[in-house]
Amino acid sequence: MIVAIDGPAGSGKSTVAHAIADRCGLTYLDTGAMYRCVTLACLQRGIAPDDPEGTAEVARSISIEFVPAESGQTVLLDGQDVTADIRTPEVDRNVSAVSAVPAVRKAMVELQRAVGEQGDVVAEGRDIGTVVYPNAEVKVFLTADAEARAHRRAVQREGGDAAVDKSATADAAAEQAILADIKRRDQLDSTRKEAPLRPAEDAHHIDSSRLGVDEVVDRIVRLMEEAR
Ligand code: DC
Repeated sequence: MIVAIDGPAGSGKSTVAHAIADRCGLTYLDTGAMYRCVTLACLQRGIAPDDPEGTAEVARSISIEFVPAESGQTVLLDGQDVTADIRTPEVDRNVSAVSAVPAVRKAMVELQRAVGEQGDVVAEGRDIGTVVYPNAEVKVFLTADAEARAHRRAVQREGGDAAVDKSATADAAAEQAILADIKRRDQLDSTRKEAPLRPAEDAHHIDSSRLGVDEVVDRIVRLMEEAR
């Protein structure tokens, strides 16, 4: 079975997709981490994020691996652990430009489909239900208001988890900066020409602003049972 979870930055896709993978024994595929790896490799090699040939060449030549770890998974770029390096503000600032390059997307979609052919997968991203796996048995479009998303990311950067600790706080200035970046990326990701962020026609919409992780996961597991 393929479960596609799409939605904007910080809507809770990772937490929810992880939980579903654990609970139902599916392989977890974080496609955002793949675009982040391409972006990091471009930054390391001095390739401009909006250079279509340079970024495409990087996307085709790097190796990206996911290794299960105690707290989620480790991301390897050409064999190096880049789990933390792909989540820096510098990568945040450049990833929209890199992921808007059609040839970069083509290379990543090929890798993502190869994973889907190997078995049961829960994949999260922006174009999973529309482009990568249009025949996914379950499609979810997960949203949350921008403030809720910025708060979650800010808490996460400080090592906490707002989904678990409802009273968690983060530095207010950092949270405002994250909110501005999230709004900017929402705009870029949903208005780009190639595979813009949009719900598939047959996607189930879930707003996680005021729902706990377990409630969202329960809803998706019910959709999976109905689809079997
Ligand atoms: O989910 P994330 O914030 O880690 O994703 C990082 C960026 O990658 C995001 O700004 C848009 C892009 N992305 C994409 O274009 N298509 C995907 N399937 C996943 C992510």
